[in-house]
Amino acid sequence: MCGIVGFIGSNEATPIILDGLRRLEYRGYDSAGIATLNHGKVEIRRAAGKLVNLEMMLQERPLGGSCGIGHTRWATHGRPSEINAHPHCAGGIVVVHNGIIENYRFLKGMLTGKGHHFRSETDTEVIAHLIEHHFKETGSFEAAVRLALSELRGAYAVVVLCEKEPGHLIAAKSGSPLVVGHRGGEFYVASDIPAMLSRTREMIFLDDGEFVLFGNRDMKVSMLDGRKVRKESKTITWNPLLAEKGGYRHFMLKEIHEQPRAIADTLAGRIQEKGEVQLEELHLTDVELRRIEKLFIVACGTSWHAALIGKFFIEKLARVPVDVDIASEFRYRDPIVTGNTLTLLISQSGETADTLAALREAKGKKGKTVAVCNVVESSIARESDGVIYTHAGPEIGVASTKAFTTQIVALYMFAIRLGLARGTISSGQCRGMIHDLQALPEKVEKTLMQDGAIEEAARAYMGAKDFLFLGRGNQYPIALEGALKLKEISYIHAEGYPAGEMKHGPIALIDEQMPVVILAPRNETFEKVASNMEEVRARGGRVIAVTDHAGEELTGKADLILNLPAVPDDLMPVITAVPMQLLAYHVAALLGKDVDQPRNLAKSVTVE
Ligand code: F6R
Repeated sequence: MCGIVGFIGSNEATPIILDGLRRLEYRGYDSAGIATLNHGKVEIRRAAGKLVNLEMMLQERPLGGSCGIGHTRWATHGRPSEINAHPHCAGGIVVVHNGIIENYRFLKGMLTGKGHHFRSETDTEVIAHLIEHHFKETGSFEAAVRLALSELRGAYAVVVLCEKEPGHLIAAKSGSPLVVGHRGGEFYVASDIPAMLSRTREMIFLDDGEFVLFGNRDMKVSMLDGRKVRKESKTITWNPLLAEKGGYRHFMLKEIHEQPRAIADTLAGRIQEKGEVQLEELHLTDVELRRIEKLFIVACGTSWHAALIGKFFIEKLARVPVDVDIASEFRYRDPIVTGNTLTLLISQSGETADTLAALREAKGKKGKTVAVCNVVESSIARESDGVIYTHAGPEIGVASTKAFTTQIVALYMFAIRLGLARGTISSGQCRGMIHDLQALPEKVEKTLMQDGAIEEAARAYMGAKDFLFLGRGNQYPIALEGALKLKEISYIHAEGYPAGEMKHGPIALIDEQMPVVILAPRNETFEKVASNMEEVRARGGRVIAVTDHAGEELTGKADLILNLPAVPDDLMPVITAVPMQLLAYHVAALLGKDVDQPRNLAKSVTVE
């Protein structure tokens, strides 16, 4: 995710902000920028790529002043480029922003109508113009920022400078994190603690809806509507490395816990209560969507598991036949692709060599292509005809977690969009599905509360040499994912199987040593999965049942029951994926493995 650093005090701002941005580099970014106020004038430097590019620019054209803001950007709206990098400026108002503004298109249209001229493709630039608009009306920097922020929908953490009020800096948040640090009358504000930890350990954690006005050696916190707020300062005792992980022991655990936010960001601005799904960069008209006769979904590893779930969505909601292929197979098997074939390529990194080759194979045969990617402007995203970005933020742990659940959500939105265009679902049905999607982040949050119980299970089963994961229907890909997660980070052998296939071979493996994870939410095949559970128990196997409100019915049939929140069956894979990730994580962590960088694996597989 993007990084924010702001400073107001008596020291030179630029070196402090640059140091803070460097300490946020681990979060991943594609461009960076700094603005300072010097002798009543705002000056901005921005550069695409790594911080070193910005540093070189600053060596040639330094920035003075003791008040400034800086940003590292992870692209969400618009390419990674200098023009899209933050800070964004309009009429002397300068803004850095993290989050996604859902109504930015509406606001941009309104402001363009009033004569505002936009330079970038970002949602952030709208905030600068909106503040400028209100500043002209009210003549007050503080009032203008309050008015502008109250008109935004979506998530934001912002820090704002105003050329006409040089002694002030404003920060506010709603949905994206922001922390204030202070020492000796100097103030720091940042999206994450490590940016400031070398300067101060005294921090104030802002809550949603809070607004901070920094002045000359003082700061005032209030709610956006002006109500006063009393905040307590806390002393941070973490070591800097731990702080980069937001207090989590590993990036993987942090990323597992980020899933409610990642899913909400992937949905933001794309689903409308009235029963519509807008996927702006899909670049396919309703007519083109209606012409599709066949779909391929092509991917590798965890992304391939998301593809298997996508097939369920698309065939059910849009009634188009779907083949799911592993990219390294697709590229060499001369697939039958025609002008009416759509190939979806799923890739977190957007750089996986086999998936890229599969994309080129489909394009070479004149088929249409759409990428589902997390990294903006990655090769697969750029070369595809259309793209649906997952807004999971940078994934640092090698084992994919939040990228996977957001891929599932993106595929569900795509299937609804396709179904609406083809008339296989009504807007009334769509409204129900949108409602279910909106509730999903909270359900994932509740699922994460099982972390302690799952750690206990991991402790009980960490000595096993092999694991079996079983599921049916859309839970079969989750069984595959559970097995993959466990083997890649704990190096324990694990296999995922469709539960109905157990009798055709794997049942021979079952004995008292074998933990069997059985995915058994209450759905059409629940009774059958419950029978499979009995079969495992009858052979002495140790059953970990993952279920929802049916949990009680399974009492006595399993050694351990994980009872998860119920959601409609289509979305249940998002919920059951979470305990698979946590189980693998805790087993690996308890075994002392290198969770974030498991042996032999790379985050982005750019070779065949
Ligand atoms: C597993 C994992 C890998 C990736 C695979 C594809 O945890 O991370 O299996 O899913 O290498 O990578 P992307 O999605 O970047 O194409």
